[in-house]
Formats: sequence, structure tokens, C-alpha cells
Amino acid sequence: MKDTPLLQMKRISKSFPGVQALSEVSFELHEGEVVGLVGENGAGKSTLMKILSGVYAPDRGEILIDGQAVRFSSPKDAERAGVAVIYQELSLVPSVSVMENVLMGREPRTRWKTVDWREMARVSSELLTLLDMPIDVRRPVEEFGVAVQQMIEIAKALSLNARILVMDEPTSSLSEHETKQLFDIVRKLKGKGVGVVYISHKMEEIYEIADRITVLRDGQHVGTATAEELPSEKMIQWMVGRKIDQFFPSRTPEIGEELLKVSGLTLPQPGMSGVNLVNNVSFSVHSGEILGLAGLRGAGNSPLLGAIFGRYGRRPRGDIHIRGEKVEITSPPQAIAHGMAYLTNDRKASGLVLPMSVLHNMTLVSLRDMTRFGWLDPLVEQRSASAYRDSLSIRTPSLRTEVSTLSGGNQQKVILAKWLMSEPSILFLDEPTRGIDVGAKTEIYSLMNRWASEGKAILLITSELPELLAMSDRILVMHRGEITAEFSHEEATQEKVMAAAM
Ligand SMILES: Nc1ncnc2c1ncn2[C@@H]1O[C@H](COP(=O)(O)OP(=O)(O)OP(=O)(O)O)[C@@H](O)[C@H]1O
Ligand SMILES: [Mg+2]
Repeated sequence: MKDTPLLQMKRISKSFPGVQALSEVSFELHEGEVVGLVGENGAGKSTLMKILSGVYAPDRGEILIDGQAVRFSSPKDAERAGVAVIYQELSLVPSVSVMENVLMGREPRTRWKTVDWREMARVSSELLTLLDMPIDVRRPVEEFGVAVQQMIEIAKALSLNARILVMDEPTSSLSEHETKQLFDIVRKLKGKGVGVVYISHKMEEIYEIADRITVLRDGQHVGTATAEELPSEKMIQWMVGRKIDQFFPSRTPEIGEELLKVSGLTLPQPGMSGVNLVNNVSFSVHSGEILGLAGLRGAGNSPLLGAIFGRYGRRPRGDIHIRGEKVEITSPPQAIAHGMAYLTNDRKASGLVLPMSVLHNMTLVSLRDMTRFGWLDPLVEQRSASAYRDSLSIRTPSLRTEVSTLSGGNQQKVILAKWLMSEPSILFLDEPTRGIDVGAKTEIYSLMNRWASEGKAILLITSELPELLAMSDRILVMHRGEITAEFSHEEATQEKVMAAAM
């Protein structure tokens, strides 16, 4: 390690209307080092990195690279100084080709100064092949799923040949295999002397990849330590300011009547005859029950929930019964009217209206219940929104704040609140804790337990197996659109579930 750190951020402060996002935070990164940056939702991690990358100017404080003071007035400035960032919210242009996204603003030119499309395709597909993502780089980005888009984002950052690489929750939509792939790359970059800042709410990842860990809380630097010096209990205590005794709160299930029954559900793949995303699936879920749906990505879990919820219109075949009565659901509003709610795994599509306030985003689905004689009762709206803000500890200056200014995890909580306020009896949760900090995760688990004990039926999809095993009363495993195994809470182990999913 050289004596002069690659990067020093000294006493950085930044405030937004109503929030002191950072107060005098200092941060250091050396060549060939990975620093894990952790903290609760809204702690200031992304803001600190946006200051490093020239998106925001700090109110106070300074940045030094190789001991030299730098000042970035735009992301381009930071890029030129060797800083590349993979942002938490994907920043690709959906309608534009993969290769143009990867090399945007830095298109290779021919001798005649025109864009060299062939070179562009070559460079970008080389990067993506390195990431084990050999896709057609001429296709528009929007044709690919979130995981691929995340990889494209990573390829873009790599193409900058940065000396400082910031990854803000890069794995939130990646599979285990893709995450491994990414870590191999991070290790290679480390070997070349690149300094990496790695932000994640997944503690195992932090311990696997980080040499040192920096913890922020409420916009302040709590401490920095090597991974060995900072066991997870201590790290969590630094993050949330208290001890967490029981990460997964226990519950004695009381299983009641059958709320939802699905028989022979089949969802054909659009445009491909004979191929089914969901194939002849039958199951039921009861009042008071948390039913886990396991399976690798592409196994059909999310399309299954979407098909039940009416997201695919009339395309699915099969029968759905709610409380013993056969129902016809061909659109999400019909599903909602039948007492269902669906938190999708796709944060963008799941309907935050970014320019709208926290309050209005929360009450979007439940407006009908808050009207009196046809008029929206603002008091009722305000009261129930505050209650959910408190129980989910959503960090926002006020309920009137525009939801776009909230931190990533807090936006996720607003979506959760929105669906809960519709007071569903059948709740579909697809990756409910993605991007959510440890403290809030256990709060969400407690809430899930409470909803179940109130008699709701919950269907849970999560890629985090410990979460699935701890929370589910029963687990169905899917593979290629079919249910391949069923385990009770007692029977299920990580090995058995994985074996059935492969
Ligand atoms: N553009 C903005 N306008 C107003 N407030 C903002 C803006 N960006 C961030 N904030 C506020 O600054 C605080 C820190 O947010 P930041 O996004 O840095 O948190 P984070 O640590 O990245 O959290 P998460 O883990 O949820 O992503 C939050 O209270 C957030 O609401
Ligand atoms: Mg963030």
C-alpha cells in the first residue's frame, strides 16, 4: 500500500431541504483496496458517492486524489479523473442499443470522424463477454431484464478504465452466479490497483469482498475498521445504534381457511407456441399462512404471481378460487378488488410516481377507502400514511416530500406501504426486502408475522434463502414453470430447496 491514499474525502457536509444528509464525513480508499460502505437506508451512502462523482457539490469539505485536491463540477469531470460509478438506480437509456449505452459520449471514431460502429460493437461485446453476458450489443437495452441491464451498467463503468470504481448496490438484482462473476471481476480490478467502494445491504457480500468497512449513520461517520476487526454484530450495532437480538422474529402459525386456490394454471410464453412460463401449477394458501415460493431466476415464480394478479390479461389458463368461490381476474384492479395486493420485484414498474409526494404515492391504491361521501378525507389519508411511515420507519423530511428525493431503500418502503394500505387479505411479496437495511428488514419480518396472525395469506418470493427458510410455513419450489417440490417449515433446508430448484 502506498502512503498517500488513492482517495481522501475530508469532512464532507451536504444538506438538502429538510435533511442534513452528510455531516463532516471523512473517507479513505487506497490503491487495490475494496472498502465496504454500509449504513441504514438514508444514512448518506449514495450521497457521499454522488459527491465523489460530481453529481452533487458538497456544502463543505474537500476531495483529494493521490494527495491532490480536486473539484468536480460535473460527472464528466469526475470520469476524466478516473472515477466511475455504478448507480443504485439504473441510468441506461432503454430505447438505445446496448453498445451505445456502454460507450455513450465516448464513441470510437473512424479516420473520417464518423462513429465506428464495428469497433463499438467489438469493444462493448468484449466487455460483456468478460462479464459472462454474451448478448447481442446491437439490441436496445429495454429488451433485456434487470439483471442483464445491471451487467450492462457494469460494463459501462469498466469501459472507463477507472482507478476508482464505486458500486452502489450492484447485486440487488443479480443471481448468486452473477454475483460471483462480479466478485471475480472486482478481484481482478483490485489486482490492477483499482480502488473499489462497495455499497450493499447484504452483509455476507461485504465480508466476502471488503478489506475495510466504513459505517455511516444519520449522515455521520461512525467508524472504519478492517473486516476482521468488525464482526457482524458490531457492524450492525454501528449501523443501527442498537443491538438486534433476534433477526428473524419467531411466530407460531395459526393456519385457517383456504383463501386462495389455484388449479392448473398455465401461462404461455408470448410469441412462442408450446412454451409455457408457468405450466399446470396448482396450490393453495390459507389464512394465517406464509407460503414461500423458491426457484432460480426464470423458474416462473414471478410470472406465476403476475398471472394470478391479472397482469397478463386473459392469457393465463386455469382456475382461481378465492374463499372457495371461483373468480375471473383479468386485470390488476380486479385482483385488488378481490382483496389482493402485489409488491413486484421491479421497483420502477411497481408504480412509484416519482414527481409525486410520499403521501400520495402511499395512498394511491387505497383512495377509495379514504373517501367520505365521494370526497377524499385528507385527515384520514394523512393519519394512515403517518402510521405506516412510523411502522416501516420511512425516513423522509415530511409526507409532502417528493418521493424521488428519498433514498433507494426508503422508496422501496413507500411501495410496501402503498400496498399494505389497501388492506389486502392476500398479499404477494416479491423480494420485499431488496435494498432494505438490516434494522428495517427485521421490522418487515415482524410485520409479516403480524399480518399473518391477523389472518392474511402471504406469498413470499425471495432470492435470499435464509429469509425464505425462516419466514415460510411451507415452501413450494419451482423449476421451469412447474412445482417440483413442497416442504414444510420443519423439513426445509437450504440443500433440499437448492436441489429441487436446479
Ligand atoms: N436529491 C435529493 N433531494 C433531497 N433529499 C435528498 C436527495 N438525495 C438524497 N436525499 C436525502 O439524503 C439522505 C441520504 O440519502 P442517501 O440516498 O444518500 O441514502 P443511502 O445511504 O444511500 O440510503 P439507501 O440505503 O436507502 O440507498 C436521505 O434522507 C435522502 O432522503
Ligand atoms: Mg443509496
